[in-house]
Order: sequence, then C-alpha cells, then structure tokens
Amino acid sequence: MKKHSTLGEFIINNQKDFQGSTGELSRLINAIRLAAKVVNHEVNKAGLVDILGAAGETNIQGEEQQKLDVYANDIFMQTLTNRQIVCGIASEEEDDFVVIKGNNGKNDNKYILLMDPLDGSSNVDVNVSVGTIFSIYERVTPTGEPVTQDDFLQKGDKQVAAGYVVYGTSTMLVYTTGKGVNGFTLNPAIGTFYLSHPNMEFPKKGNIYSINEANYVHFPQGVKDYLKYIQNQVEKGHKYTSRYIGSLVSDFHRNMIKGGIYIYPTSTRAPKGKLRLLYECNPMAFLAEQANGLATDGYQRILDIQPTELHQRVPFFCGSSSMVTTIKELMSAYPEDADY
Ligand code: AHG
Ligand code: MN
Ligand code: MN
Repeated sequence: MKKHSTLGEFIINNQKDFQGSTGELSRLINAIRLAAKVVNHEVNKAGLVDILGAAGETNIQGEEQQKLDVYANDIFMQTLTNRQIVCGIASEEEDDFVVIKGNNGKNDNKYILLMDPLDGSSNVDVNVSVGTIFSIYERVTPTGEPVTQDDFLQKGDKQVAAGYVVYGTSTMLVYTTGKGVNGFTLNPAIGTFYLSHPNMEFPKKGNIYSINEANYVHFPQGVKDYLKYIQNQVEKGHKYTSRYIGSLVSDFHRNMIKGGIYIYPTSTRAPKGKLRLLYECNPMAFLAEQANGLATDGYQRILDIQPTELHQRVPFFCGSSSMVTTIKELMSAYPEDADY
C-alpha cells in the first residue's frame, strides 16, 4: 500500500481480506467517513454558530448533554439509518438501542454499531480536541428479524471493527478491522482522508501517564501505589510526564503515538469507574491490542468482559504494554472488591 492512498482506496484494497465479504463492512466504514466529515465541519464552526453550550437535557446516565453531543448523535444516526447500512445502533446519548428497519420492514444487514458520538464534550466550549468512537459487531440473532439486546451485549472480543475520529489540530480517522491500526488525516480543502499513519503501534514502554489526579484520595490502593512507583522512578532519574486532556480519544491518540498509559480507575465517587464499556472501553481496547498495547479493568482483559447492560461502566487502564503490565501487577496485591 503506497503511503498516500485515500481512505476510499484503502477500504476497497482491503475488502478482499474478508472471506466471503459482500462489501457491507466497507460501505459501513464509508458511511462513518461521511458522518465524520459533517460533524467535523460543525465542530470547526463552533464559536461562530449557535452550537456551543448545553442543550438543556440530560442523557440516560444523568450527564448534561451539550448541543454538539446531540448534533453528532443525530448526524451519525441519520447517516447510518438513511443508508440502511446497519440493523441496529446503540449510542451513549440514546436511552435504548435503536432497531433499524428496511424499506420493506425487513433489514437484511448483518452489522450493528455502538458509538460515543462526541467524546470529551466538556472540552468543546474551550476549543480543545474532541472525538467520536465507534464499535462494530456482527449480529447474533437471525438476519431479517429485529435486533435484540443480545446483539449489543457481546464481549468486546467479538468486534469486527472499531475506531475513532479525533477533531484536533487536524482531523483524523483511525480504525481497525482486526488487521492492525491505520490512521487517515482529512485534507479539509478537498474533504478527503489520506492514509497518513499506516500500522500505528504503541511503543512497548512509554513515559506519559494520563489520569485525573484530583481524584487521588478516592483511588484504589493499587493505583496510588502505581503513582508512587512513578515518583520513585523519577527520583532515580527516569523520565515520566503527566498529560491529561479529559478527552479519552485525544489522550489515547497521543499515548499511542508517543507511548503512555491512560487510567480511569474506580473511586469512591465512581465505584464502577466512569467510562462506558460498550461505547468507549471496548473499541479503544480493540484498537490498543491491535496496536501492540493492552487494556484491562485492573484485573481482567477488557475484551473478555461479558457486558450485562448497555450503559455499563468499567475501570479502564489502557496503553503501552509494559506500563499496563506494571499497574496490573500492583493492583493484584489488593482484592478487586476491597473497600477503600
Ligand atoms: P463524554 O464526553 O463522552 O461523556 O466522555 C468524557 C470521558 C472521557 O472522554 C474523558 O477522558 C473522561 O470522561 C474525563 O473525565 P473526568 O473529567 O472525570 O476526568
Ligand atoms: Mn466519552
Ligand atoms: Mn460522549
């Protein structure tokens, strides 16, 4: 693959990698590409048009929705529904999963999609990078029937594709179909994504740690021990640096390129963690593993967790393999259900 192929060319060239492929997954990635460009256009106008600030509603998880949360959700929902490219969608911003019916009332598509339409939305009003995260599975219920909760509550290990869009200093779409991770940068002048980051990989070791340290007193002891371990390493002359944007997509993207770990543990404030297993942790864990990194809830591989509810939250430790291994070792000194 030559370095500057477009995303469209890349999708076509790689379609043959899927045995028995009917082109459905390729069409789905194409639809995501289109929705990403529309959301990107609006994110870049933020400040000029009335799109900043709160929408006046809260989502099912009790979080205040920003106007851009609602806008991004609508664009992705509409694009995927209009093209009738999936048979069901679940979104962080929707109370329940959405069944997509075909024109004749039947839908023969085999994929479902889960998404966090706008990740890091608290950063929107202050011109800091935000993102979109998506996760794709094959349905497990019979084709042609309406999808059920079983289709959405699959282990992350069953994902067929996952990715994110980062609306940053440049806009990138990064995704995997289980054959490594590739990143595409949008040329805004012509609206085309180009392959700019082929075969992305986490460096094995990193020196960046990303955690909201304001919650320190509420962290489990294993996480406190890890932060102490870093301080001890620094004292010995090793270089570590703390970087926390507060947009998982942006923090993950930087850590994958430079080497680092992202940590959102449980705390007494958020006893199950904050991040959502289906919309945030599973897709990022799939990308991480495809990029030589690791992702765990502190005790268990994220992709092995059997989801029990759509909006389930889990603790999340993700990044360069040696860093994730170290914190996992420190966590293992304490029982998972310890009361802090
Ligand atoms: P979202 O905007 O989709 O609700 O996600 C925000 C998430 C994640 O992106 C970010 O890393 C984390 O919340 C930040 O949480 P804190 O402000 O508690 O650090
Ligand atoms: Mn999010
Ligand atoms: Mn969100």
